[in-house]
Amino acid sequence: MKKTVVLIGFMGCGKSTAGKELAKALKYRFLDTDSYIEDHAKMSVAEIFAQYGEQYFRNLETETVKKLMEIAEETVVSTGGGLPLREENADILKKNGFVVYLRVKGSTVEERLKGDTARPLLQGDNVSGKIADLLEYRDPIYEYGAHMVLDVDEKTVEEIVEDIARNFKMMCEKDQENNNRD
Ligand code: S3P
Repeated sequence: MKKTVVLIGFMGCGKSTAGKELAKALKYRFLDTDSYIEDHAKMSVAEIFAQYGEQYFRNLETETVKKLMEIAEETVVSTGGGLPLREENADILKKNGFVVYLRVKGSTVEERLKGDTARPLLQGDNVSGKIADLLEYRDPIYEYGAHMVLDVDEKTVEEIVEDIARNFKMMCEKDQENNNRD
């Protein structure tokens, strides 16, 4: 496994915030799949959805994950909330990195993303119903795609970073022991 930590989870779970701090703590590079896509398309995610549709964006995510996981070394990668739902993407992530699912409750997402206009899937009426439906469908998929699950609702960014760093170091040590044995 490459020395790469991947953060997955629902919109608003704190992947980017925790990811940046984790990268600082590990002295790793930080990459964000949404930012990568936006920089290359020279458009925001919302504009891509509006102009080309969701499937087009999902295809960009797959292209991006292939590229980034190929070059990622000593890197923390934060992923868009829908990215691990494609089996192909989830397989690439799990094969190449230590995948951490930041699990969050619907009520926390609702509170954090009140008034947000950047996320096309959470616009319009009945946002809490949309969050609940998406979470119910996605939670088992995120869990299956991860090496570690962390419930983050009550945790500070510092606690999240510490928890991930500790588990990641343990995993690296085990990996090293196995390599020495071979
Ligand atoms: C999406 C999550 C967003 C972004 C896009 C779709 C999703 O990223 O990729 O709006 O399907 O959950 P964040 O998880 O960073 O908000």
